[in-house]
Amino acid sequence: MTQTLTLRRPDDWHLHLRDGAMLEAVLPETARHFARAIVMPNLVPPVVTAKQANDYRERILKALPKGMSFTPLMTLYLTEATDPEDVTAAFANGFATAVKLYPAGATTNSASGVRDLDKVMPVLEAMAEIGMPLCVHGEVTDPAVDIFDREAVFIDRVLEPLRRRLPGLKVVMEHVTTQEAVAYVRTADSGPVATITTHHLIINRNHILVGGIRPHYYCLPVAKRELHRLALREAATSGDARFFLGTDSAPHVDPLKECACGCAGCFTATNTMSILAHVFEEMGRLDRLEGFASLNGPAFYGLPANADRITLVKGAPVPYPAKIETGAGPVTVFDPGFPLHWHIE
Ligand code: DOR
Ligand code: ZN
Repeated sequence: MTQTLTLRRPDDWHLHLRDGAMLEAVLPETARHFARAIVMPNLVPPVVTAKQANDYRERILKALPKGMSFTPLMTLYLTEATDPEDVTAAFANGFATAVKLYPAGATTNSASGVRDLDKVMPVLEAMAEIGMPLCVHGEVTDPAVDIFDREAVFIDRVLEPLRRRLPGLKVVMEHVTTQEAVAYVRTADSGPVATITTHHLIINRNHILVGGIRPHYYCLPVAKRELHRLALREAATSGDARFFLGTDSAPHVDPLKECACGCAGCFTATNTMSILAHVFEEMGRLDRLEGFASLNGPAFYGLPANADRITLVKGAPVPYPAKIETGAGPVTVFDPGFPLHWHIE
């Protein structure tokens, strides 16, 4: 018996598209299945101003192959010099959908991020007033805090105090990786929502470290122990609208992953929908995939769900490529470690 599943076309609420040759190669991988994406601004140099966001949006649209449709939703990289008026104007005229907070030093190209939250309070206050969401990379950078604890500590030290100070600010905890973050979203009334990546539903920290170090499973926040992965799977498939898909698909060319100091990022744009269907089926909750991938995100961002639909069909294993070739070099596609039987028609 063929199994099929039809759902509203999904969106990706956290995506790295990069620029230039890399952008050209990875954009079709996302646009093939997804209608829209929240595009991350951690380029070099970062996308800080409304003008930079609009220029980057135009480069993305120019890189889109003919016949494909895709709407990039732009974000502004928050710095301690960000001008609140530029941010509010960018939101008002549609140049930017959200602002991204990177604690300085937390991840790839975050050096221009925020060291002192006090310095960006005028921007955050303006955002709360106009209802512009803040997407947060929720990890402390204190060298004394173990890398596996950095998300949980961020909630206590940064997020909860910020929420008390500015309860009206719409916050997205990006790529949550811990049961603490899941519990925080669940218990905080009218509090933050969270995106969950594809790869954090599949791997735990053993996948990175047991039997040899596997650079293509290294990302930030780093995958945690198994109990956290199980909490994420439960949250993603729970039907709770506060959790939705943000793949954090983050391409790096192989030489920059497979070296003595490899970059963080898993490239999942190519096979995300197949992997998600597998996970939701395993959890006995295929009927909730549409909420997670297609409905909860737009509801939070105040946008309509996509009108068209995609159909997933279960059959013989799908032959996804191990790598995609880009003008910048090869990029390894995330390997879930098992065959994928769901393909998008
Ligand atoms: O794994 C990651 N890769 N995490 C991030 O926060 C950034 C991203 C990237 O830009 O490569
Ligand atoms: Zn990211």
